[in-house]
Amino acid sequence: MPVFNDLNLNLERRKALRVLGLSAMAGLAGSSAFSSALAAIAKSASVRPPDVELELGAAPGEVKLLPGKPTRVWCFTARLVRGPADTLQPITDSTLGPVIRLRRGQRVRIRFHNELGEPSIVHWHGLDVPESADGHPRLAVGHGQSYTYDFEVTNRAGTYWYHPHPHMRTAVQVYQGLAGLLIVSDPEEKDLDLPGDAGELLCVLQDRRLDADNQLVYAGASGEGRGRGGGGMGGMMETMNGWLGDRMLVSGRVQPTIDVDRRAYRVRLLNGSNARIYKLAWSDRSPMTLIGSDGGLLEKARTQAALTLAPGQRAEVLLDLSAHAGAAPLQLLSLAFPAGAVGRVGMMAESSPVPQGAALTLMTLRISETKGPGVRLPKKLSTHNFRKLPNAPVRPVPLTFMRMSWLIDGRSFDMQDVAKEETVAPNSTHVWEFENQPNPMGMEMAHPIHVHGLQFRVLARSGGAANPLREGINDTGWLDTVLVLPGEKVRVQIKFSSHPGLYLYHCHILEHEDMGMMRNFRITGTA
Ligand code: C2O
Ligand code: CU
Ligand code: CU
Repeated sequence: MPVFNDLNLNLERRKALRVLGLSAMAGLAGSSAFSSALAAIAKSASVRPPDVELELGAAPGEVKLLPGKPTRVWCFTARLVRGPADTLQPITDSTLGPVIRLRRGQRVRIRFHNELGEPSIVHWHGLDVPESADGHPRLAVGHGQSYTYDFEVTNRAGTYWYHPHPHMRTAVQVYQGLAGLLIVSDPEEKDLDLPGDAGELLCVLQDRRLDADNQLVYAGASGEGRGRGGGGMGGMMETMNGWLGDRMLVSGRVQPTIDVDRRAYRVRLLNGSNARIYKLAWSDRSPMTLIGSDGGLLEKARTQAALTLAPGQRAEVLLDLSAHAGAAPLQLLSLAFPAGAVGRVGMMAESSPVPQGAALTLMTLRISETKGPGVRLPKKLSTHNFRKLPNAPVRPVPLTFMRMSWLIDGRSFDMQDVAKEETVAPNSTHVWEFENQPNPMGMEMAHPIHVHGLQFRVLARSGGAANPLREGINDTGWLDTVLVLPGEKVRVQIKFSSHPGLYLYHCHILEHEDMGMMRNFRITGTA
């Protein structure tokens, strides 16, 4: 179809034209006026009536986190304009935005409205979307303004999430409460008969510091007095370590107790914390049955004594209480590990009252007498069709601390800058090796590295074998965020998206991201 090539139409639009039967008109095209008219039609056709349409607002609000004064937060609220009635699942009395439930293949339009008093933009973490829908900080809109996202859900079924991504304000905006789960379902998953609806536990793990008035305390580098406490040198150091809270929140509630039945549960876990790394385990020390990672179901379930979950990462765990004996409640714990496993910035140890590696009780499951369905796990959960690229050149990506900042490949974030090695062709496959390099001044930290767009695979992990966080790390399945421990090298194979444009990869310790531990990559071609 030479005419369409002339018009530089992207694949989406070509598809849309085909839907409208417009490709039949291609032969008529000649004049440039006709061409641009056709382009205009094509453009509007690419945004054909969506299957799901949402209004998503971000604004200040209040939530009752602890007895006493309500906590002032920022929250997402959403309204369904069009689409299945179960698309939005609000979480009441919580700082979190509603769960957005999408199905693979749906065309989605979301109109984001910013009422925060400062610029913001929303990113759909884990989804493969066109550049215009990815929430790059350069697309941020100011107070009172809107941004419309149009995309098709092409991802596998899985647990994804959404959060703001504005320049240097991501950490504080997420901390103030802006985050939510985005759950995708598909027919492959439906066939498995995993516990649905009533058998689902949604667990977004976050930590917050609250003052005596129940208000959030945050000491960001960008300060400006939001959140008291911290500040000064201590605040800056804490920011370099990543900000830690002293209260554990699960899905926006402080250390909740949840009533459950004697049945099987699909536990969807998201580490939505700014900086805290968890080493998860059940209090009765029964193993964790891992069935899913960032990018959906694993090929086979695996059991782990503990599960290391770093900021940005998700996991799905099966918890079968159908044969559970005894009345004792079951708790989700984070096991103790030495803070040094995460590392630190110089001699300034973090000053959080609850440091990295402290033993934590995240939530308590109170088990009722009511019996419900168990689950028979199939041998095979999913088919991944992953193929290792033989002899691919490896791009080393050092993670370092220099010039009082965390860097990726020696560079800091710049809104437009992309290096040659950060430029890739659409649909191309590359092997990148993140190297968490030791620093002569002893400044090193574990960095969860996140790549926007398609999910990647871990090919190899070396160094850091003695790190107590290592045993809990799952390197199988599709991932979009991988934890690179101090001294480790983690080699990943990434297939980049078909969508051309400017995307991001960065450390998901949000304070690191905001201070510039983030880079663009460009997928070549024109949108
Ligand atoms: Cu969840 Cu670019 O981030
Ligand atoms: Cu992302
Ligand atoms: Cu980092």
